[in-house]
Amino acid sequence: MSAVHLVAASLLFSTGALWTTRVGATDIHVCDETNSPNWYIYCSGPILESVNYHALFNDSKHYVDMPTKNSPNDTIKAWYDTFGQTAPPDVPEDKLRNFIEEYFSDPGSELVNCTPVDWIEKPPKIMSITDPTLRAWALELHGIWKHLCKQFWANIVSKSSEENNSSECQSDQKSLSTPTAILSMASGRFREFYYWDAYWIVKGLLVSGMYNSTRGMIINLASMVDKFGFVPNGGRVYYLQRSQPPMLIPMVYEYYEATNDREFVRHILPTLVKELNFWHTNRTTELQIGNKNYTVFQYRTNSNVPRPESFKEDVRTAHGISDDLKPKFWQDKASAAESGWDFSTRWFQDHKTLYTIETTKIVPIDLNALICWNYDILEYLFERVGNTTESEIYREIRSKFKNTLNKVFYNKTLGAWFDYHMDTKQQNIDFYPSSVVPLFTGCYHALNQGKSERLFQYMQNVGAFNFSGGIPTSMIKDSEEQWDFPNGWSPLNHMIIEGLRKSENAQMQDQAYRIAKKWVEGNYRVFQKTKFMWEKYDVIGKVPRPGEGGEYHVQDGFGWTNGAILDLLSTYNDRIKLPQANSAAGCLSSGTNGLVMILCLMVSTMGAVILTQNNRDYY
Ligand SMILES: *[C@@H]1O[C@H](CO)[C@@H](O)[C@H](O)[C@H]1NC(C)=O
Ligand SMILES: *[C@@H]1O[C@H](CO)[C@@H](O)[C@H](O)[C@H]1NC(C)=O
Ligand SMILES: *[C@@H]1O[C@H](CO)[C@@H](O)[C@H](O)[C@H]1NC(C)=O
Ligand SMILES: *[C@@H]1O[C@H](CO)[C@@H](O)[C@H](O)[C@H]1NC(C)=O
Ligand SMILES: *[C@@H]1O[C@H](CO)[C@@H](O)[C@H](O)[C@H]1NC(C)=O
Ligand SMILES: *[C@@H]1O[C@H](CO)[C@@H](O)[C@H](O)[C@H]1NC(C)=O
Ligand SMILES: *[C@@H]1O[C@H](CO)[C@@H](O)[C@H](O)[C@H]1NC(C)=O
Ligand SMILES: *[C@@H]1O[C@H](CO)[C@@H](O)[C@H](O)[C@H]1NC(C)=O
Ligand SMILES: *[C@@H]1O[C@H](CO)[C@@H](O)[C@H](O)[C@H]1NC(C)=O
Ligand SMILES: *[C@@H]1O[C@H](CO)[C@@H](O)[C@H](O)[C@H]1NC(C)=O
Repeated sequence: MSAVHLVAASLLFSTGALWTTRVGATDIHVCDETNSPNWYIYCSGPILESVNYHALFNDSKHYVDMPTKNSPNDTIKAWYDTFGQTAPPDVPEDKLRNFIEEYFSDPGSELVNCTPVDWIEKPPKIMSITDPTLRAWALELHGIWKHLCKQFWANIVSKSSEENNSSECQSDQKSLSTPTAILSMASGRFREFYYWDAYWIVKGLLVSGMYNSTRGMIINLASMVDKFGFVPNGGRVYYLQRSQPPMLIPMVYEYYEATNDREFVRHILPTLVKELNFWHTNRTTELQIGNKNYTVFQYRTNSNVPRPESFKEDVRTAHGISDDLKPKFWQDKASAAESGWDFSTRWFQDHKTLYTIETTKIVPIDLNALICWNYDILEYLFERVGNTTESEIYREIRSKFKNTLNKVFYNKTLGAWFDYHMDTKQQNIDFYPSSVVPLFTGCYHALNQGKSERLFQYMQNVGAFNFSGGIPTSMIKDSEEQWDFPNGWSPLNHMIIEGLRKSENAQMQDQAYRIAKKWVEGNYRVFQKTKFMWEKYDVIGKVPRPGEGGEYHVQDGFGWTNGAILDLLSTYNDRIKLPQANSAAGCLSSGTNGLVMILCLMVSTMGAVILTQNNRDYY
């Protein structure tokens, strides 16, 4: 082991100038010998560096998703037998290509398709959707679950066939009651499960009546906590240093509400507590405001090297940053990835350019509002299983934490919650949907309805509701990042809709309905045009389309998009209806009589006006 280690370390000093990642004893890699048997294949080492130096694949993620054909040790031995100590820039590209072909299989080829056993043709909740076209669409989306299902071994985060077949894997498999999971995405570069995506997938699965699959997904995520102490960002070894928004406890809550499965809750509660403890132990910081201290949560991974799945991009974007500041830059990029918002002006010091990213200086309102919800749910679930002592403890913690939320993030002047900057001690008062998460998680004083109404007012003032396709991720127009204007994302639109819908205010509830309708219609129209559900949508155009921006191409087939749509169609099953544009077209083509044509047009226009208030934005 030390031989491999030494060689891998020395290599980093023999690389070309641009390439040098200035690596030393303080490097924290995304996986290492403590948590992964193949760390020097995928998380550091000469193969990773050479493949990226020569840009063997357009997408950096390609290589790190290729399983090895032999054991990691045999693979690295073959590397040294072939290339010795050759520095990455000097490795001949054709020989490198041959090596990769000989020793690695296609990306994702270790994942096995499966059919969810609880999938049924016509789930009652979907059949209750009144609009026939939307119902048919929902059934189509429901059908996609079958293709999203991948066999999931508890150690999917391992790679080679050898490990796949290891006894550890098999014992894991036995201890889990289900070996399957629904992956978060069907196609494109995201082949493995992703943590926060899973919440919206669960919402969709529950509409599809797939309780067993939901339970299986939860068990798989929980097995990550048991094994690694937290839920990694996704199901790969290169995600072992960062998590994603804490949605496991909310998933259990949604599952319990749908099934009343108290035994399952009792069984899984210790793991849920363990996950929350990870956030406590590893992701908190102390703030002093006035003469009081507040404990708050941050997205803050320790890793400070290029992310293997975005290696080229991380090296390229660090160009021009002095070597001593690069580790901090990479840590801030990886921490933004932990937030799920990679990338957004939200994390940039100048609110414009990635170059100024400073995620670890920012205390994010959405994470803290989610933690508050986690407390709330634990209080509830402990009470459900009859553990009143523990339930009381979480009630107490949550009550204190609500005060923290109020003191740190709430701006009385503007009537809204914002991210807090640790150095400037100022809030970032630009609009981001993260401000609405306290509404979604109910994390404000319930009797103080005024707070939610003021947030609503604030959103109106900034024009958040003025776009034809949904709520954009910010109003910052020239960042070219994917978590900014003009992109709208399913989880954010869904949380806003739910936050407004659950308020006591009729106007807010009405706005919730209108956003839901816009979002559903936009997704539907893009689906009609492209035959795909997308990762994100451009919400401003007259004609909705898939979103753009960021470090990779927009991905199709998306799990969380499908889940959010199924949930909204189910919630508004008798209210959301498509404008009658199609029937009008049919009418026009079949009508030979001028009078009939005019009548048809009138009917369809009236239908549209009644059904969509801001229809004009759309057509
Ligand atoms: C791989 O090689 C290292 C270093 O030589 C050794 O410690 C480890 O046990 C080997 N792993 C396996 C599975 O053989
Ligand atoms: C890689 O990117 C280049 C330039 O964008 C493109 O021409 C090429 O087709 C891409 N290759 C693959 C395999 O996608
Ligand atoms: C992993 O195990 C599964 C189930 O036995 C098998 O189908 C799959 O081919 C294996 N993967 C590899 C890379 O050997
Ligand atoms: C798994 O390993 C065992 C023992 O090493 C071997 O007999 C078996 O054929 C392997 N199975 C697969 C699917 O590779
Ligand atoms: C639920 O999943 C378990 C384990 O995966 C399986 O044994 C059981 O038959 C499934 N139940 C239903 C109703 O599908
Ligand atoms: C969390 O922090 C503890 C204490 O510093 C450390 O031992 C542990 O490895 C960390 N856990 C993770 C998953 O990073
Ligand atoms: C608050 O935290 C600061 C460090 O951030 C510490 O110096 C101070 O003693 C703490 N005050 C209290 C009351 O705990
Ligand atoms: C309540 O939960 C705590 C923490 O999991 C546990 O230590 C305690 O034994 C439980 N009490 C009862 C009565 O089940
Ligand atoms: C709250 O908003 C006001 C008005 O925009 C602003 O001046 C103030 O700095 C904000 N408070 C904090 C703590 O950032
Ligand atoms: C949003 O639309 C409303 C109603 O059409 C309009 O009064 C308001 O000025 C718009 N807000 C912004 C910021 O454009």
